[in-house]
Amino acid sequence: MNPEVTSIGDINVDIITSKLKDMPQRDSQIILPEIRLSSGGCAANFAKAISKLGTAVRFIGKVGEDVFGDFLRDNLNGVDLRLLTGSKTGITVAITFDDETRSFITYPGSNSELKVRDIDFSLIEGKCLHIASFFLQGLRENTSEIMEYAHDNKMTVSFDTGWDPGGWSNEDTELVKNILHNVDIFFPNIKEGKAITGAKDERSICKELLDLGPEVIGLKLGKMGCYVATKDEGYYIAPFRVKPVDTTGAGDVFDAAFILGYLRSWDLEKTGRFANAAAALSTMGYGTERYPTEGEVRRLLRVESA
Ligand SMILES: Nc1ncnc2c1ncn2[C@@H]1O[C@H](COP(=O)(O)OP(=O)(O)OP(=O)(O)O)[C@@H](O)[C@H]1O
Ligand SMILES: [Mg+2]
Repeated sequence: MNPEVTSIGDINVDIITSKLKDMPQRDSQIILPEIRLSSGGCAANFAKAISKLGTAVRFIGKVGEDVFGDFLRDNLNGVDLRLLTGSKTGITVAITFDDETRSFITYPGSNSELKVRDIDFSLIEGKCLHIASFFLQGLRENTSEIMEYAHDNKMTVSFDTGWDPGGWSNEDTELVKNILHNVDIFFPNIKEGKAITGAKDERSICKELLDLGPEVIGLKLGKMGCYVATKDEGYYIAPFRVKPVDTTGAGDVFDAAFILGYLRSWDLEKTGRFANAAAALSTMGYGTERYPTEGEVRRLLRVESA
């Protein structure tokens, strides 16, 4: 089946701890009730999330010929996986804490070996192309080439840079700003929005980002919900009240649910509410285990509006 959406970018295994009070001291050991293995990587999470929401999706990324690569192939069933072979599958160790903060230790592995020349452009199909995790994969400035191909083929392009582990140097920030010329829908979180624009509040961040090219901004505000904007309108959308277990990847589910709304031509406010609800539901389990179906999101929306 031809996909409605193609996602390109990072894929890795996530090793997720149950909640800790604090980091263990050096030369010490702590015992946890559980440590889980999940698929991860923002672009792969996006694919898994939009697939769970009922949309046919293709994913292009790179893994190693190892046990983690095998795990990911199995775990992402339902996604049309087009996995290239690299040296070793990427790994993120996600340490989660009682106060809902988390720390990540990432080995990008094959993700940083993902280059534009590896990608068979004829596989980029559907109505939307989503590219994620700019700093963890190797597409860099060539990201624009892929986006231009998608535009030539009448696709809409969405982009989620993720956080820059290098601390947003001028060079990185300029590179991202240049790529935004080719982006239609941009999904930063508030910290990323501030880092890219230097602006302080939601409205000014969105205004500055819209001036760089995108037509729609989905600005993610964590437990505060989101602010969604175009040049003509902007809405702050309150979060859904849930008891989060693990918020890792909530942003990727937000992106996926937002694209679903876009594919259905919903208005901006409805799309933002749906994305907020889907992302909130995804925080109720570890990793990708509680990614919602469209029916589950609709139920939450009905309960909240009743
Ligand atoms: N504690 C929470 N309660 C309710 N909704 C939440 C909570 N945390 C996150 N969300 C929802 O998830 C969305 C995305 O979260 P966040 O702002 O953390 O994105 P992010 O930083 O890109 O996440 P990540 O990169 O870890 O996937 C928010 O816009 C909100 O809708
Ligand atoms: Mg994010």
